[in-house]
Amino acid sequence: MGGAAIAVGGLLVWSGSQRGEPESGVTPAPSTSPTGSPPAQDAGTLQEPEVLASSGGRLELTLTAALTDVVVAGRQVRALTFNGSLPGPILRVRPGDRIALTFRSELDAPTNLHTHGLVVSPEGNSDNVFVMIEPGATFDYEYELGDDHPPGVFWYHPHHHGNSAEQLFSGMYGAIIVEDEEPVAATRERLLMVSDIAFDGTDVHAASAAERILGREGDLVMVNGQVGATLLAKPGERERWRIVNACSSRYLRLRLDGQRMQLLGVDAGRYPEPRDVEEIVLTPGNRGDVMVTAVEGTSVLQTLPFDRGGMGMFGSPPSATTGADLLTFTVAGAPVAVPALAVPLPTTRDLRTEQMTGQRTITLAMGGGGGGGMRFTIDGQEFGEDRIDTEVAHGALEEWTIVNTSPMDHPFHLHVWPMQLIEVAGQAVDHTDWRDVVPVSARSSTVVRIAFEGLTGKTVYHCHILDHEDNGMMGTIRTA
Ligand code: C2O
Ligand code: CU
Ligand code: CU
Repeated sequence: MGGAAIAVGGLLVWSGSQRGEPESGVTPAPSTSPTGSPPAQDAGTLQEPEVLASSGGRLELTLTAALTDVVVAGRQVRALTFNGSLPGPILRVRPGDRIALTFRSELDAPTNLHTHGLVVSPEGNSDNVFVMIEPGATFDYEYELGDDHPPGVFWYHPHHHGNSAEQLFSGMYGAIIVEDEEPVAATRERLLMVSDIAFDGTDVHAASAAERILGREGDLVMVNGQVGATLLAKPGERERWRIVNACSSRYLRLRLDGQRMQLLGVDAGRYPEPRDVEEIVLTPGNRGDVMVTAVEGTSVLQTLPFDRGGMGMFGSPPSATTGADLLTFTVAGAPVAVPALAVPLPTTRDLRTEQMTGQRTITLAMGGGGGGGMRFTIDGQEFGEDRIDTEVAHGALEEWTIVNTSPMDHPFHLHVWPMQLIEVAGQAVDHTDWRDVVPVSARSSTVVRIAFEGLTGKTVYHCHILDHEDNGMMGTIRTA
């Protein structure tokens, strides 16, 4: 594959276009300024990862995970990458396709791969998180997408229990796009893969014990591996932005003041109609499918501070995530006529109108463990891969109440079967909203409905603050 060479070429372009102070990449958002200020560092135009597209119903590729020299915010550093680039390549496929993916690990710790949100089998050599790939080993994954697979943006990342947060934080992520059967009209489409990272010298910061409890966050917030990149458009142009929150723990609370944003849906869910929004909150793992209509002027895509709770024991509110400026969107030139927003209407199922066959409560908790440690549990237990925590009959329609008794937020993720958001903190959701990660705030609860149809098998649900998952906040489910 010529992938690595192209990707390395991409990095050279990025490094060549980066100017300014090496240390100036961090630009905390001034939360007092509604429009933000342009990032201090000009990292050049936003680049997108290499695209590997299927043809004839098949995509074959090799993903090599390795410690790699990259340039981040103008500094030469070392990160874990897929095929040498940060992020890894975009996999672009269609419903009905097969993906044959050879995973080569050049890491020094066990790993594996998860195709987050894809509705594919969780067993065998498909999206099986119980697979373990030893250092130096190769594993052949094969994913089969149904003809009715939902379109949208998905992503891949490591999922080996115990080190998924560290490997994700260190740079192992990439996007998967499943194309629409009927294209959504837009002037152009962009991928914005948002991730955070931090370095100690030239190496990725190793999280402290406290950071592993709170959920590690990096001081550098990147889009497609760049800090402070720029985008250009003409007034009236309509762009489709697929925004992925690939941060290990950071919530994104996005604003693009001065521009018009319409949310088509979160994750693979598509709203019955686009919703005008000023802010988009994406938990770790979430994706936003956004239409941006360009208005003359310069706007900054910001993520605002978000308080996801904390532990009083550390004597500070350490998880009150700071904001950051993500990129500058400059709209100038001769205006173009705004095309009508024609979004093919999805046939979105609404489980609010259907009779449920069962109900469950899932309880997320944190508590003191022995020896001053902290236990992260689901229904009183830490993760045990040989146990089955939840058995569901194929075809069941269930309502789950996810209760969070802890002082921190826990975004709840279920593999394979999407969840319809019904109620958040006692507030009924007034529109059809399907997601694969739902927010569950501190000392609060979230109600979802799930159709256990289509695929069967054993897989997991967990907190998508991956430090919490690594610490045990994960359960197993089998549908048969
Ligand atoms: Cu994106 Cu089980 O995770
Ligand atoms: Cu997932
Ligand atoms: Cu959590």
